[in-house]
Amino acid sequence: MICVLKILFLEGKIMNNGSSMVLSLDIGSDRTKLCAGVPVGNDRVEICAAAMVKTKGISKSVVTNSDELTECIEALVKKLEGNKKKLKRFVYVAKNKNIKVNSIYLTIGGEHILTVNSKSALRLSERPVLVSRHDVSRLMDTAKSLQRCVNREIIHLLPQEFMVDGYKRLKDPEGVCGCMLTAKLHTISCEASFMQNLINVVNNAGISVEDVIYSGLAASFSALTKQQKHAGVILLEFGAETVDALFFKEDSLQWTSVIPFGAKDITLEIAENLSVTFMQAEQLKMQYKSMPDDSMYKIIVKKKSADYNTIIPQYLTAVVDKKLFEIMFFIKKELELSGILSKADAGIVISGGMSFMDGFTAKLQEFMGVMVKFGIMRGFVSNLPAAGSNFYAAGIGAVMYAIDKNRNKPVKMSMRRRDIFRQIVGNVKDMYNDYF
Ligand SMILES: Nc1ncnc2c1ncn2[C@@H]1O[C@H](COP(=O)(O)OP(=O)(O)OP(=O)(O)O)[C@@H](O)[C@H]1O
Ligand SMILES: [Mg+2]
Repeated sequence: MICVLKILFLEGKIMNNGSSMVLSLDIGSDRTKLCAGVPVGNDRVEICAAAMVKTKGISKSVVTNSDELTECIEALVKKLEGNKKKLKRFVYVAKNKNIKVNSIYLTIGGEHILTVNSKSALRLSERPVLVSRHDVSRLMDTAKSLQRCVNREIIHLLPQEFMVDGYKRLKDPEGVCGCMLTAKLHTISCEASFMQNLINVVNNAGISVEDVIYSGLAASFSALTKQQKHAGVILLEFGAETVDALFFKEDSLQWTSVIPFGAKDITLEIAENLSVTFMQAEQLKMQYKSMPDDSMYKIIVKKKSADYNTIIPQYLTAVVDKKLFEIMFFIKKELELSGILSKADAGIVISGGMSFMDGFTAKLQEFMGVMVKFGIMRGFVSNLPAAGSNFYAAGIGAVMYAIDKNRNKPVKMSMRRRDIFRQIVGNVKDMYNDYF
């Protein structure tokens, strides 16, 4: 008996150590981010590490050069594992062992993401019975199997609300009495081959993937508050090639869309209009608002043809504003057509690299006609200044999501039979040594 108790205790210890530190990898089309966090107490998260590198080998969410992408991930892991100065707290949490990135939670995004709202029902009994947790699982499993299709992987099946006979809008139907259980669901799926290619690249870098999370949903964990999600809020995560648009109301995700525009489109527009290289266009984009609005002021640009040219800041502003208008117009149309713009009582929150663009928040607010807020990273503690930057919204959000999921997961036997046998032998030896 003593032996069994000791085994369970040791197993609990192993599980805690194994599940306490969570790492996420957010492979963006422009930058790849690696974040790490640990649970603190019962409901808090501490972000202990965050690093980012320029992405290589991916375009339009498709792996174009797996070797380059693998190298990029390896460089990022080295950056995080080697940067001990900044990671004191991490090293402390890891009991002074070196950080090893063995497994991660992978975010996934891009135009191949599809979402759908649906309903699913389960007949419980002829006579009213209490709805159990098992009934809810059965309903979700049935919905999942009905929605499964070739070359698509369901990454999230999120309940919006449950109904038990006449009782509507239930967040948790467990314990309610009825004959029929119905659920409104929001499904997020991705192209299976795209996901597998990405997982293969991560595996080639010597890292295993614990789970996959849609990047927009991940960002919502760090950029939105519970109050906003209840009142009705639209999150726009502006990346380099896509904008993840999500609408939350009454605490659940109601609508999602991946809009095929991003910060890179503005860079390409500048490069084309000014005949400059992509790198130079990128620099001009970063400073376009900080330049004096004065026609006497000239910007000297080196053209692709190696000639030099002078332009006035107003010309650059006109080029950027034209593209920005196009992007904002497209997003507004999408939000209006789906009928969510008028329902977002808490307005719009923006995150991602493009949200840092000078004057963008104000411009978007004026154009959309609803309140627009620059996303403030929240819901975690950290002594890393970088953790406050919403460049990491998806990466840090993925860590928060994973820790939350692990907390709510029922504790399972995590060791394989052989490991348990080894553990028993080890414990018997320990007991023998203790007593004799
Ligand atoms: N101050 C700024 N002004 C304008 N654009 C900026 C600024 N800072 C960063 N960006 C742009 O943000 C983009 C990178 O943002 P982010 O890291 O969120 O994208 P990503 O995750 O790599 O892309 P995606 O999510 O679309 O795959 C780059 O295109 C970069 O030019
Ligand atoms: Mg991104």
